[in-house]
Amino acid sequence: MATRLTEGVLTSNVHLIRWVEKMADLCQPDRVHWIDGSDAENEWLCQQLVEAGTFTKLNQKLWPGCYYARSSPNDVARVEDRTFICSLSKDNAGPTNNWEDPYVMRRKLKELFRGSMRGRTMYVLPYSMGPIGSPMSQIGVQLTDSAYAVVNMRIMARVGKPVFEQIDKNTQRVVPCLHSVGAPLAPGEQDVPWPQNDTKYIVHFPETREIWSYGSGYGGNALLGKKCFALRIASNIARDEGWMAEHMLILGLESPPNKEGQTEKTYVAAAFPSACGKTNFAMMVPPAGFEGWKVRCVGDDIAWIRPDENGQLRAINPEAGFFGVAPGTSVKTNPNAMATLARNTIFTNVALTPEGGVWWEGMTDKPPADCLDWRGQHWTPEIAKQTGRTAAHPNGRFTAPAQQCPVFDHEAWNAPIGVPISAFLFGGRRATTMPLVFQAFNWSSGVYVGATMGSETTAAATGETGKVRRDPMAMLPFCGYHMGDYFRHWLRMQRRLSATPRVFHVNWFRRDADGNFLWPGFSENMRVLKWIVDRIRGRAQGKETPIGWTPYYEDMNWNGLNLPPSKFDELQAVDRDAWRREVIGHEELFLLLHDHLPAEMIYERELLICRL
Ligand code: OXD
Ligand code: MN
Repeated sequence: MATRLTEGVLTSNVHLIRWVEKMADLCQPDRVHWIDGSDAENEWLCQQLVEAGTFTKLNQKLWPGCYYARSSPNDVARVEDRTFICSLSKDNAGPTNNWEDPYVMRRKLKELFRGSMRGRTMYVLPYSMGPIGSPMSQIGVQLTDSAYAVVNMRIMARVGKPVFEQIDKNTQRVVPCLHSVGAPLAPGEQDVPWPQNDTKYIVHFPETREIWSYGSGYGGNALLGKKCFALRIASNIARDEGWMAEHMLILGLESPPNKEGQTEKTYVAAAFPSACGKTNFAMMVPPAGFEGWKVRCVGDDIAWIRPDENGQLRAINPEAGFFGVAPGTSVKTNPNAMATLARNTIFTNVALTPEGGVWWEGMTDKPPADCLDWRGQHWTPEIAKQTGRTAAHPNGRFTAPAQQCPVFDHEAWNAPIGVPISAFLFGGRRATTMPLVFQAFNWSSGVYVGATMGSETTAAATGETGKVRRDPMAMLPFCGYHMGDYFRHWLRMQRRLSATPRVFHVNWFRRDADGNFLWPGFSENMRVLKWIVDRIRGRAQGKETPIGWTPYYEDMNWNGLNLPPSKFDELQAVDRDAWRREVIGHEELFLLLHDHLPAEMIYERELLICRL
């Protein structure tokens, strides 16, 4: 018999109610729970997760409001080979996305979802990406059988009653998202939010703006507001409506007050591939020599960017939390992240210490004498030495409320029209070839720089790590349509702007001949950011090179850091032979995208070759 929902329904929107009923018919959950987003509800959900053994409540004196979880070892990262863009035509998805005919995929998914929630609760989770009611925001509703996904999403987005109210009064389209970990429970069986086998499908239907995710309970596969909606579906909406959905942090750099007591605030957005330090950069602490300067964090992962009526690009961070990589995060590398995650945070796949705390590689110089690793096995530094086993999974994460960040820009984050963006930064993890910083000559050469970005692969996705792959605008796994058309969209944006943001490329990871990092990174990146702001404001010189404008040594602030000019030259060197090889790497990407590649990309490449 068809489900009719009456109990606990929190919306009057009949379309939404009918859809939930239809999905309940398909997935056959034992119960349907409408998420109101209250604290009491969150506590109840967390308590349930504790009782099911999914959550461990951490020592509340050390880690107030914090919980600990371990996923199953076959569910620890985004699964790019199981992620699909099911546009009507294969051509629209492009060669960098997996594609399946939407009709075929829908049939397949319906079979998988049939009865998949048996024995479980289906949660109806409304969420707003961006300030509720802002013209730049979008709304989604995620149906999920994972309480773990709900409590994570509650940190990552604005959720609950106010969103239902917005749905009720609005004509705005809602993006339906269906999620199941995909293992119906036998009577009496204990619920776990992790899949029981390897069948995973993370599927996007761009034309109908739908997301169906099956068989994973982890991160970007399961928190559907993040990569699935805010990037893959939103990039499609943005293309159609003339805005941009980007894999970018947003930060504001505020100068010390001048004689009149006024400060100067400059906002930039930066795209680095997954696990390349976006979170660190977004909330960086200025180093010695930058007294009075402040970095203010607006977002660490996603930016939605739109021209205002004056042709000025403005950006919002559609998220409400940080889903950060834990390993490597410490009071030295990112004190603001450590302060953010000190309370009300969910830790997944890190180590659990005997006193009920968490630990991960790089958190402290001295590891705990013993602990339970991310798999729940006994771990000591000695065992690590013998077996090479790490205590935390390299993609172990913290889910922390952004508002707890000591340098969070609350006003900018809540601003319905976002903040003005003066520059885009692109960067990757490159041991060679790429200088510390250069500025593209103009918008189209800047788009070329972003489009040809490369980076060594990391643990944020399954697969081999450490190989250079092209990752245009850090969007390779996240662009919901053909990459060639995406470049064209970037180029076309210029026509709608009165002033184009400046475009820069940075690389914190260049190494010398012995394999040592040439640049100290972290706080010291502020020196590069300051030069960028000086360029934006017309205060710093640039030296012309074949690849773009680079800083003169004298134009950088070196107070507090002893970096001799010879080392700076090594960091900034443009090795023509290495760059010729680099351009061949660009060509490989272009060959793949050739039938949708804008002519400007070819011209820019030719110009670059001529300059080299
Ligand atoms: C992320 C990612 O989780 O990019 O932000 O993988
Ligand atoms: Mn990311």
